[in-house]
Amino acid sequence: MPMVSMRQLLDEAAQGGYGVGAFNVHNMEQIQAIMEAARATSSPVIIQASRGARSYTNDRFLYHLMMAATELYPEIPVALHQDHGNSPETCKSAIDLGFTSVMMDGSLEEDGKTPASFEYNVAVTREVVEAAHARGVTVEGELGTLGGIEDGVGSGEVHLTDPDQAVEFVAATGIDALAVAIGTSHGAYKFSRKPDGEVLAMSLIEEIHQRLPETHLVMHGSSSVPRELVDEINRYGGQMKESWGVPVEEIQRGIQHGVRKINVDTDSRLAITGAIRKHLAEHPSDFDPRDYLKPARAAMQQVIEARMTAFGQAGHAGDYEPIPLEEMRERYRTGALA
Ligand code: G3H
Ligand code: 13P
Ligand code: ZN
Repeated sequence: MPMVSMRQLLDEAAQGGYGVGAFNVHNMEQIQAIMEAARATSSPVIIQASRGARSYTNDRFLYHLMMAATELYPEIPVALHQDHGNSPETCKSAIDLGFTSVMMDGSLEEDGKTPASFEYNVAVTREVVEAAHARGVTVEGELGTLGGIEDGVGSGEVHLTDPDQAVEFVAATGIDALAVAIGTSHGAYKFSRKPDGEVLAMSLIEEIHQRLPETHLVMHGSSSVPRELVDEINRYGGQMKESWGVPVEEIQRGIQHGVRKINVDTDSRLAITGAIRKHLAEHPSDFDPRDYLKPARAAMQQVIEARMTAFGQAGHAGDYEPIPLEEMRERYRTGALA
């Protein structure tokens, strides 16, 4: 099956009332782990690459690994997505490379750090929507900035997504999916206690979904940071601090209220690192990378399968045929997807 647009995956997910995990990759073993998990659970899936991942893999390696994935797993609908594009140029280069979806993260300026103005965000996102939809490619935008409520951002300010602004932003940009800031942050240290309504604003998702029932919502920073994965790392020489991630039940609550894309990277990294540490600690004389990369890949697959099942995408791989990007382009042009 050729790669499909993320818009199609998310429209199908909305119809079926489930969420789709968007898993970050930067090497072959991670792509294999995700595709094996998708096959084992019969799941459609989003594979995403950050700018850092694109530079680490060199775009060409990444692209051809993804081509191999579609060739070897023809029954799996898979979208290739640019995660956190920092500029229209980054997004356009991804489209040129063959990505079927891009995120223009105009919530931050091009440095990827400084919170941007609403006007800047609208302008760069609108520019990407025009370029992407003309090629049938999906666009995700972001409003509000990640960074936990506990961390604050900059001077302690918190930039949760404002529902009124969200309505204005979607109307002004024409995006397909909206990433909302509800108090999560990237990485392994999200919360210093199990998150409750004070640090994880799930109610905001409900409000935004009521106001924008047709817009697919995206949760970033959605790793659950399972205690057992952190313990495994520390048992074999790691030094990770105690922390809490986003409980799977909270993500499931989000899925009931319009969350269709759930971004997970850290949980894969934890699974891989724990398995490699364990293997090397138990087999100190091993030096063939395959000896520790195989259990690492299997550990990541196990986490991804669990997420696919919890998000509800399992069992849906065979529900539909891919719509070619040319046809998506036509649907955008005629307003059929507005
Ligand atoms: O957006 C965050 C993802 O976890 C990617 O992280 O920039 O280290 O590849 P990265
Ligand atoms: P995690 O660090 O929680 O896995 O979040 C990943 C993410 O949001 C990528 O965009
Ligand atoms: Zn993110």
